[in-house]
Amino acid sequence: MSFLFNAWYMIGWADEFTGEALVARTMLKIPVVAWRDAASGAYHALEDTCPHRFAPLSEGKLVNGRVQCGYHGLEFDGTGQCRHNPFNKVVPSSIRTRSFPIAERPGAVWVWMGDPARADEALIPDVDYHADPTMRYVKGSSLIASDYRLITDNLMDLCHSTFLHPSFGGLEYMPQFRSEERPDGVIVCNYHIPDMINIFGPEAIPAERIRNNDNIRWIAPSVHILESRAGLVGSDEYIVYVPSAHILTPQDETSTHYFWSSGCDKDLPVPDEALIEILKQAFDGEDKPMLEAVQRRMAGRDLWDMDPVLLPTDAGAVRVRRKMAAMIAAEREEASVSA
Ligand code: FES
Ligand SMILES: [Fe+2]
Repeated sequence: MSFLFNAWYMIGWADEFTGEALVARTMLKIPVVAWRDAASGAYHALEDTCPHRFAPLSEGKLVNGRVQCGYHGLEFDGTGQCRHNPFNKVVPSSIRTRSFPIAERPGAVWVWMGDPARADEALIPDVDYHADPTMRYVKGSSLIASDYRLITDNLMDLCHSTFLHPSFGGLEYMPQFRSEERPDGVIVCNYHIPDMINIFGPEAIPAERIRNNDNIRWIAPSVHILESRAGLVGSDEYIVYVPSAHILTPQDETSTHYFWSSGCDKDLPVPDEALIEILKQAFDGEDKPMLEAVQRRMAGRDLWDMDPVLLPTDAGAVRVRRKMAAMIAAEREEASVSA
């Protein structure tokens, strides 16, 4: 298995980058250390391996805006260039570590893992409610011991909610389903339930039963934006709007950083802690154990080699798998041609 390298991957939430913090995260099997310069506000990301004796730079500390290796004290600036050796005045320019393009979008920090010349910040996926003054959002993250593609399978087939997430409606979640690939390459799955029990509560919708619509779109390589809407049965209007982002950054072939956020009306009379508890129960308490059990059961085998049963509701997930495989193959082909 390989990864798509020419893409932006989320390294962490912006509020992790405070003060002198060094944020260390392995992404696509490459250890990365990142920080935010307190004076300029600029972000920097380097390969988290000192070129001297290969100590993790993240075990060191920031000194005058440079990361100082905790082993023998070499100091590297944000471009990866070594600027100081405590034992010699002269520092050859050949002493350097790899740097990565890095940028913040409201709330989240992204790193470009491929050819730096192709890093276009306009390609960073937009999570619009992070910057919407009429909304607020809660967020979290976890490390899931599973291939990121299994998590995309999970997200693009929300029919798992019916059995895995009882508080999202359980057996009442019996959607009409459709999926499509848009001309821009985004793959969308839509789940519509004309009449189901009100899972949002009477404060949000004053009715016992509701109409529910979940629309999830996949943006290559591993960003998923889910928009959940609900209203009165038989009405075209929606009263509740809950957008959420599910952003995956592979750590390696069998583990994935899962960053999620969920937005709501700024004035929703439900405290953040209560929202976080509901979402953590679903993502960490229900999805994560199932995904990790699937990973263990597959024992490193490829999904297609195991000849899986394909259901109509797998259509979106299968589209994503095919598209990702083609994108990765094209990137590898291009790399082999230019090598
Ligand atoms: S390992 Fe980093 S300075 Fe020696
Ligand atoms: Fe789920």
